[in-house]
Amino acid sequence: MTRRSPAGFEEVDPGPGWDALPLPALVLDEQGRVTAMNDAAEVWLNMSRNSTLGRTLDGDEMGTRLRIHPSLSPLVFRVVQGDEPLYQPNVRFEIGDRAGGHQERRALVHAGPAGELGGGVTLLLVPQDEAGLQSQNRAVRTAARSAIGMAEMLAHEIKNPLAGIRGAAQLIGMNASPEDREMAEMIVSESKRIVSLLEQVERFGDTSAPNLRAINVHDVLEKVRRSAAVGFAKKIGIVAEYDPSLPDALADADQLTQVCLNLVKNAAEALKDTDRPAIRLRSFYDHTLRLPPDETDPTGRPLPLQIEIEDNGPGLPPAIADQIFEPFVSGRENGTGLGLALVSKIITDHGALIRVDSRPGRTVFRISLPKA
Ligand SMILES: Nc1ncnc2c1ncn2[C@@H]1O[C@H](COP(=O)(O)OP(=O)(O)OP(=O)(O)O)[C@@H](O)[C@H]1O
Ligand SMILES: [Mg+2]
Repeated sequence: MTRRSPAGFEEVDPGPGWDALPLPALVLDEQGRVTAMNDAAEVWLNMSRNSTLGRTLDGDEMGTRLRIHPSLSPLVFRVVQGDEPLYQPNVRFEIGDRAGGHQERRALVHAGPAGELGGGVTLLLVPQDEAGLQSQNRAVRTAARSAIGMAEMLAHEIKNPLAGIRGAAQLIGMNASPEDREMAEMIVSESKRIVSLLEQVERFGDTSAPNLRAINVHDVLEKVRRSAAVGFAKKIGIVAEYDPSLPDALADADQLTQVCLNLVKNAAEALKDTDRPAIRLRSFYDHTLRLPPDETDPTGRPLPLQIEIEDNGPGLPPAIADQIFEPFVSGRENGTGLGLALVSKIITDHGALIRVDSRPGRTVFRISLPKA
């Protein structure tokens, strides 16, 4: 069934049941223009049929009302060409609101051929808001605390005897044959490595309670971006996408800098074998985000300020993906595995939240902070 709209394209009528469908659904023609959408799609996309029919979802036609990442055009094209259904998980929809802001939603997009509806493609969106993000929870946090306490104590205890071992090896090396001297030097250099690891552990224990102030997160991000661009991330394109209308956050600027530096450094390290490596720093507002409720705060503290650090590297190594925030878990040769444990400790001390969403080609760490 079709009827001709004033704009000159064919609006299709998918028939009864379509509007009762609990999932957002749309029909596109072969050029990707919307020829039908159901009630759930109007609500979920926050767009009326009137303003949507006849237009393409991707690209400039929707202006700031809708942005889709990644673009759905290749998917639609492949379905039209291949005439078989395809899925795309984790599609991000930036949906504009009347106030000029936007909110972000995610969906798994199922695209199937719409043969009986005049060709084109039927899109079914399965919302996956937040589902793909693993949360950093309280249990992990406590485990990190006690492991760190233990490690700190050990660090302190090991340093003294180690200094003795090192001194003795230096002495032996002075009067030894060339081969023995080489071994003595190895003892010295390995002990040095242990000392620097221990110092890192001790520094970890030193992080004091955050000094919470109203701060501009963009100042922090810019500082991190500049220092990365001249230092460890020289060869990597770093893109900044900030929402200039973002209000101040309640945070400790120095500690937040340390957190972001650690995340950008990890991203840079993950990108070392990636073609056209890129890091994206993003800020935006999402008033729906809260800390998970608990006894002290049954509604959950609002955490509307979002910072994302994204890279196009290989993603978290699957074997450790669930434990990266725990101390001494590292997927890198020579990594100590303390970077993210420190990040997690600082964020927790802020009453804030950090989560990660990772797959090959795209890893995003998201920090959610309270408003000042
Ligand atoms: N952006 C990322 N992409 C892929 N893997 C990552 C990313 N960030 C962290 N990881 C993985 O998580 C592990 C833990 O990170 P973490 O910062 O805690 O330790 P590290 O970088 O190995 O050592 P350290 O930071 O103490 O020098 C890393 O070794 C790496 O395998
Ligand atoms: Mg690290």
